[in-house]
Amino acid sequence: MNFSPHRLNQLLQPISVRLAAWYALAATTTLACLFFAGYVLLQNHLINGLDLLNAAEFKQLKSHLGSDYKTLTGEVINARIRETTDYASVLFYINVDNPQKGMLFHSTNLNGRSMPDIKGEHSFNITMDGIGELRVSEYFLPPFEVSIGTPLHQVRSVMDGYMIVCLTLLGGMLLVSTSIGYYLSRLALRPVRLISETANHIHSDNLSHRIPVSEVNDEISDLGRMLNQMFDRLELSFNQIRRFSAEASHELKTPLSLVRLYAEKMLLDTNRSSADQDTLLELLEEVARLDRIIEELLFLSRAEANAITLNLKPVNPARFLRDFELDARTLAEHHGRDFFHTHHGEGCISFDDSRMRQVLLNLLTNALNVSPPGGKITLRSRLDEGLWRFSVEDEGPGLPAEQYERIFERFVRITPPNSEDKGNGLGLAICRSIVELHRGRIFATSASNDAGLQIVIEIPEVNG
Ligand SMILES: Nc1ncnc2c1ncn2[C@@H]1O[C@H](COP(=O)(O)OP(=O)(O)OP(=O)(O)O)[C@@H](O)[C@H]1O
Ligand SMILES: [Mg+2]
Repeated sequence: MNFSPHRLNQLLQPISVRLAAWYALAATTTLACLFFAGYVLLQNHLINGLDLLNAAEFKQLKSHLGSDYKTLTGEVINARIRETTDYASVLFYINVDNPQKGMLFHSTNLNGRSMPDIKGEHSFNITMDGIGELRVSEYFLPPFEVSIGTPLHQVRSVMDGYMIVCLTLLGGMLLVSTSIGYYLSRLALRPVRLISETANHIHSDNLSHRIPVSEVNDEISDLGRMLNQMFDRLELSFNQIRRFSAEASHELKTPLSLVRLYAEKMLLDTNRSSADQDTLLELLEEVARLDRIIEELLFLSRAEANAITLNLKPVNPARFLRDFELDARTLAEHHGRDFFHTHHGEGCISFDDSRMRQVLLNLLTNALNVSPPGGKITLRSRLDEGLWRFSVEDEGPGLPAEQYERIFERFVRITPPNSEDKGNGLGLAICRSIVELHRGRIFATSASNDAGLQIVIEIPEVNG
């Protein structure tokens, strides 16, 4: 596995993981500092104990030598010290030196060697070959210098044991503090997760959801309250816009019907010149176009307000497409284009067949508008495990990928309108709202032959 800093950074991305890592690091470092202080204190304490032992041994040696030691010969002194020290030869290393006359005494465990001296120090650690580490204390017994050493290996093994225990405890601490830190950070970030989940569910067609805010007055509940107020304002503006377009469309219908009635009445008047009649016919055509736009806008407003009820019933897509093909072929032939369709998969799926026909006709009209003369329009359909997927593909000029989403917006027309094409830019917006009413999705993609556009629709089986 590659553990580059970038990958590690990615792993540590969620705040809960980072908080847990910081918590574990802080707790483990604090414990490590405490253990270190304990290590230094314990070691000093044990070494201090050895210094006290050395001092006690010196006291005993001094009392054995007696107060007249200065008058004694070297042999007598040697014999007296040996009497005192031999019983403790496992514990103590002793040498007595007379700076004028040279070495006076070596304990037998030193094997004739002297313990090295460190100038200016009275208590120090040394290492001797074959003996190991010693804690040495130096005493002055005029005219002699007495050095007493005690092995340090007991202290070292106690400190090694301490170290092993500390490292084990630190490992345990790291594990436990990581788990506790992770649990605590998840607990602390729960309200943030709740906010993001709720915010994720809020869309333009579903603005009534609100973030649950607790009674506690903290930064997170303040954030929740602030977002809820923002959603309130958004919902209000959206509702005003929706109401406006629904009401405006509705209000326009009556005067428009009156204009059409008057124009039709005037057309019946045979005394009018043919130029007037042509103008009236054109007027009627424009009125019909306006009427269509209003109908479509009303449909979109009602779909957004969830006021459209679908007539869902199980339909066999194969049969549905066969019926559609009859009209599609006629329409395509009328425009000098070819229409083909394929279908795979058995069974039925629930959908509103008249609305879906409206979608297909819309897609077909778009494809006919952009196809070159003699161009082929292909409808591919497949019903598979409760999902009906179909696509309409043409051999037109296609669209740049950045326009694939835009064409589903209202009144968006990418290709410049020509005299034949009387579109309003509402067809695909209506297709999308019908498909979404079926809980499906519709999107544009490039055609399989790379020329032309393909509109794909997926309709899942919905229950009820
Ligand atoms: N098959 C296609 N190939 C290339 N561009 C397309 C295709 N289908 C749609 N478009 C582009 O998307 C725009 C929007 O299409 P839409 O169906 O919404 O509106 P329209 O066809 O212009 O008008 P309406 O459908 O309301 O009569 C079209 O004007 C066209 O520029
Ligand atoms: Mg269209």
